Amino acid sequence: MSSYFDGFDFKGIHEKSKELLLNPKNLTDEARAKYLNYFETKCAKSKASVEAAKDHIPGGIQHNLANSYPFGINCVKAEGPYLYDIDGNRYIDFLQAGGPTILGNNYRPITDAAINMLNTTGNLTGLYGEFEVDLAKKIKQHYPAVDLFRMLASGTEAGMIAIRMARAFTGKSEIIKINGCYHGWADQLLYDMRSVDSRNMFAIGVPDDCLNHMCSVYPNDIEELEQRFIENEEKGGTAAFIMEPIGQDSGALPIVKEFHQKARELCDKYGALLIYDEVVTAFRLGMGGASAYFGIKPDLIMFGKAIAGGFPAAGGIGGRADVMGCLSAGIASSGAKVMVGGTLSANPVSCIAGYTAICEMEKTNAHAKLKEASDRFTRQIADLADKYKLPAAIFNQHSILHFDLCGIQHLTSHRDDDEIIENCFGLLPGANTRMKEFAMALAAEGLIVAGGNKAFISLATIPVLDEALEIFERVFANYA
Ligand SMILES: Cc1ncc(COP(=O)(O)O)c(C=O)c1O
Repeated sequence: MSSYFDGFDFKGIHEKSKELLLNPKNLTDEARAKYLNYFETKCAKSKASVEAAKDHIPGGIQHNLANSYPFGINCVKAEGPYLYDIDGNRYIDFLQAGGPTILGNNYRPITDAAINMLNTTGNLTGLYGEFEVDLAKKIKQHYPAVDLFRMLASGTEAGMIAIRMARAFTGKSEIIKINGCYHGWADQLLYDMRSVDSRNMFAIGVPDDCLNHMCSVYPNDIEELEQRFIENEEKGGTAAFIMEPIGQDSGALPIVKEFHQKARELCDKYGALLIYDEVVTAFRLGMGGASAYFGIKPDLIMFGKAIAGGFPAAGGIGGRADVMGCLSAGIASSGAKVMVGGTLSANPVSCIAGYTAICEMEKTNAHAKLKEASDRFTRQIADLADKYKLPAAIFNQHSILHFDLCGIQHLTSHRDDDEIIENCFGLLPGANTRMKEFAMALAAEGLIVAGGNKAFISLATIPVLDEALEIFERVFANYA
């Protein structure tokens, strides 16, 4: 079986994931030693600085993305397709800060627009500015489901306010999500996060009661989704169904088109709001994100990451005018008002950076180029995996790329009657090691990925994809 999959082929990726879990390949002992030695000798300053940071920062590393094996890399410069560390090493950036920098690192027109704004309004005024409307208009242009848009500071805030608005608007309490999906780190949305039926496993510090109005369904299980709606009727009804449109954080577990369509119908049937979490997919799966890709009009869309062009305070919520009326400070609306705040939200720099990024994506025709390059590159990587007989599931959804050598992220949030899946948790430690060693090997060869199974490419990455391909080949040659 080839390693290449269409990024929306749920069944193919699912079957391959099981095969990967049972018959994986690992780095050879020799290669592992060579790569560990790279970090010890070529990244000594990074190691020392992360070690020293532990006295001041919990664990020495603040962000999960930076928590790489065998230790975090101290990044001192980012430009175009590259990242540079404190030891003078250069890496191709397939991490892209987890997705926001769609045009590349330190993209000049965005940086210049932000500096220009800083030189005029300064960093913050607290007053209204025209740039807020410019950004809102751009979002409305590309997201027909958005009648009104409000800027926030993060994707997590977007999730918090989305479910609060849904409850206020519908007068119902129950929220349905998809097993395993991530919607930020707000208390209730930690329910059933990461792996199947985990319920409160990742909600440490969150009282159980807080999760009482949450439930989840298995991905792509339309019957179960309707069942949850029916059960919730007895509890006063469902306020919202919230979904990551391309599945577990974001894309390891593809959600099929029919599920999207049925979800829309069921939300209408049961008077619930459909919330798309487009924190990752907005301006990634094309200008119109997942909404355009699946041809669905959600009631609310959560934004984050790319919405501020890679600048801080990146969050937003948009949707139907009547629902968005819940947030209005002044304009009349039919329903209840809900509390929303954020000292730094809609600040001049984030808004102008987001606006400029969207204009630049339009001007450069970025998405057509990204799609063509991502599709081609993913196939090339899959061909390489086949050449080296490395078992892998390799697929992409536009410029989100997946190089899965262990299937675990997919399988832990899915259920079927297969005993492989029932037993997969016992195989987790080995799979996790495989993932982090893959990322380590790529980094030692000069390329940084997110976690070890997912990557993003930017417009600036396209010219260096041949260089990236050589790096993947050097790593694949080291598996046995
Ligand atoms: C699908 C999804 N939703 C929400 C969030 C939370 O966004 P933020 O990190 O800006 O709080 C993330 C972050 O990675 C995400 O991937």
